[in-house]
This record gives sequence, structure tokens and C-alpha cells, in this order.
Amino acid sequence: VFTYALVSLAAYLLGSIPTGYILVRVFLKEDIRSKGSGNIGATNVIRSGGKKLGALTFLIDALKGFAAVVVAAKIAALPQLQPIPHQDAEALAALFAILGHVYTVWLGFKGGKGVATALGVFIALAPWAALCGLGVFLVAVILTRYVSLGSILAAVVFPPAALLLPHGARTPLLTGVIFFVPLLVIFKHHQNIGRLLKGTENKFGSKKKAEA
Ligand code: G3P
Repeated sequence: VFTYALVSLAAYLLGSIPTGYILVRVFLKEDIRSKGSGNIGATNVIRSGGKKLGALTFLIDALKGFAAVVVAAKIAALPQLQPIPHQDAEALAALFAILGHVYTVWLGFKGGKGVATALGVFIALAPWAALCGLGVFLVAVILTRYVSLGSILAAVVFPPAALLLPHGARTPLLTGVIFFVPLLVIFKHHQNIGRLLKGTENKFGSKKKAEA
């Protein structure tokens, strides 16, 4: 139990680093939560803080997810701890890194939508399906200029892709995480879904701002 708790805590803390919030606070002395969509993710940082900060937000948010999975495998392999299956350690790390990002303790448990961090954890856990999701995301964003729609469609496509594409051994926990994380990402887009349906969603590259 201790090993599971340690892996989860380490991943939560890594995931909870509010990259977009910190970068905009440090470099622009502004609160990203009061700009654009109010989200702390890369899309809103690009929209409200510029391309460079946005790209950096995306990169760090994805990297922290990837790192959480790698660190979990290392923790699970420590000889001082009770061994747990490395797939379970990695699946828990993926779950808690996303929960850390979406419900970060540093911002009153209100964080981002988990898209970049999910890409990071799934590049580590299910790389072919993650690339498939990324492809769907890019095509959708290029065609519609709705980043949120791209994120939602990628989340829809990822779980079946992960089941169908070649992969190594998987524990039930890992399979559960492959389904749960995309569901959480879609749930976090409920305001975007409302705006998409009303036709008021922000288009990538347009200056119009949506209410949070
Ligand atoms: O990654 C989040 C994206 O899908 C939507 O972001 O700021 O338009 O709500 P935003």
C-alpha cells in the first residue's frame, strides 16, 4: 500500500504544477484565470499571453505527465519498497498526474483541462494510440480552428485506438485509466461544449474572447 501511495503522491505533485499560471504570473504579471477562457492550459496562454509562453506551457505540461509515469516506474523498482506491477505504478501515476493538473492543490483545486498532460502520460503508456489522438487533434484543429473540439475528438478516439493498436501487457487498472482520463478531459470541456453548440466558441487565432 505504501508503494501505491508514494507513486500516487509523487505523480499528483508533479501534475499539480500549474505551468500556465506560473509562466503568465512571472513573465506578464497577470492572472491567466481572468483572461480569455479562464483556463490555465496552453491554448488560453497562447490566446492571452502569446505563442512562446503558450508553447512552453504545452511542453512543460506534457513533460510533467510523461515524467510522472517514468518516475513511477523508478519508484516501483526501488528495492527498499514492496514491489508492485510496474504497469499498475505507471497507470496510477498517469491518473494522479492528470488529477493533479485538473484539481491542483495550488489553485484551490481548480486547474486545467488535462489535454497536454494526458498527451504526455499516454505517450509514455500507449504511444501509438497517443499519436493517433494527436493526429485527430491536429486535423480537427486545422479544419475547424476549434482547439476544444480537437481535444474532445482526440479524447473520443484515444481509448478504442489504445485497445486496437499493438501494445504490451496491460493490467485492468491501466485499461481503466485509458478510459477514465479521456472521460475526465471531455467532462472538463463542458463549458466549451456549451459554447460549441451555441456557436460562440473561440476559434484559434481569432481575437474574440469567450466568457469563462
Ligand atoms: O486544452 C484545452 C482546450 O481544449 C480548450 O482550451 O482555453 O479554449 O478552453 P480553452
